[in-house]
Amino acid sequence: MPNYPKRSVKSLKKNPSKQHKSNKNTLSKDISEYNNLILQCIPSGVIVINMDGIVTICNPSADSILGIDCTKEKDKSYESVLKGNSHVAQIIKNGMNGETYFRKQIQIKADGGIKWIGISTAILYDDKATPMGVIAVFSDITDVKELESDVKLKERLAAVGELSAGVAHEIRNPLSAIAGYAELLKKGLSEDEIALSVDGIIKETKNLNSIVTNFLSFVRKPQPVFKETDVNALIKEVISMVSLDKNSERIDFNIRTSNALPNIDADPFELKIAFLNIIQNAVQAMPNEGRVTVKSGIQYGMIFIEITDTGGGIPKEIGDRIFNPFFTTKEQGTGLGLAIAHKIIESHDGKIEFKSKKGKGTTFIIRLPMNRVQGFKGSRG
Ligand SMILES: Nc1ncnc2c1ncn2[C@@H]1O[C@H](COP(=O)(O)OP(=O)(O)OP(=O)(O)O)[C@@H](O)[C@H]1O
Ligand SMILES: [Mg+2]
Repeated sequence: MPNYPKRSVKSLKKNPSKQHKSNKNTLSKDISEYNNLILQCIPSGVIVINMDGIVTICNPSADSILGIDCTKEKDKSYESVLKGNSHVAQIIKNGMNGETYFRKQIQIKADGGIKWIGISTAILYDDKATPMGVIAVFSDITDVKELESDVKLKERLAAVGELSAGVAHEIRNPLSAIAGYAELLKKGLSEDEIALSVDGIIKETKNLNSIVTNFLSFVRKPQPVFKETDVNALIKEVISMVSLDKNSERIDFNIRTSNALPNIDADPFELKIAFLNIIQNAVQAMPNEGRVTVKSGIQYGMIFIEITDTGGGIPKEIGDRIFNPFFTTKEQGTGLGLAIAHKIIESHDGKIEFKSKKGKGTTFIIRLPMNRVQGFKGSRG
């Protein structure tokens, strides 16, 4: 920390005995000194340049953060002051062209290493609104970034641990069934009993295969192949697939798609998997009879697909876990259905959310952009 001069600010107080003009001059001189003292003391770096690109203000923190010597260099252009900091120089140059930044995080080379700084810029105007220059304020955020990446690594490791535990758990059940059938085969069995055991092994092997396939489709980064897609037609296809299933006989399917729905840029194969998982969940949520309603339409400039069931609802306490891989409340479930659906919708820059009422039912809402330029980049349902 630089050794800043200790100055009193008492002189800012009004002295009624002096003339008004001299008071005003003294005051503005004192304010300027006061401002200067503030600049000397604050831990943020401040650099101000005029419209000719000359550095007019630069404080000690700017020197220490950027590893420069701007407080000593007078009337120098920002390019020469910042010659080792091309990124910062570029940001100031952009400011002169009217492009400003708010808390932009950049990496710089300083003190023989890499530092992260958060930088904001603003255009400085005089009282006639004429641009006078650019002001850049920045601070060292290296510690915060390091902490952030530590936390991210820990989160990733925890997720890998959770996934591995889930895979192990899912694989163990069919494996022990296969081992049981194999033990039986070692004993002298009748032909029928042998056939039964072999059938059991085949069934469990298929089960294992589908667990691995599901798991892989979850962990692999989806690579959607986008083409013009008729979402209403996809919904109809999925409903007719699900309604063929014996378990769906008790369910009344209600399709209320909008005729105004445009075709969208999407991967129809992937979207079908997402819809199928959500509709299957809806059917499974109604062990007796019930209704599944699928609506489509346009809202907020995006298309939406709403899947509503009249099942028991999603209990509040598990609401924030249902999209987690391997989270399931079903005996036969792998807990990958919604995790896969979520990933697919995200890869389409869409959003998936749900609302649910105990004893009344659940609605899943999928929102998808109509073309590849739109989207909910970075959001999560
Ligand atoms: N429509 C719904 N109504 C009530 N609960 C639901 C509904 N959809 C999902 N859930 C809850 O979310 C959990 C996770 O769903 P998900 O589809 O990921 O896995 P799963 O259905 O249990 O197994 P899988 O889909 O892999 O066969 C379910 O076990 C269930 O508890
Ligand atoms: Mg499911």
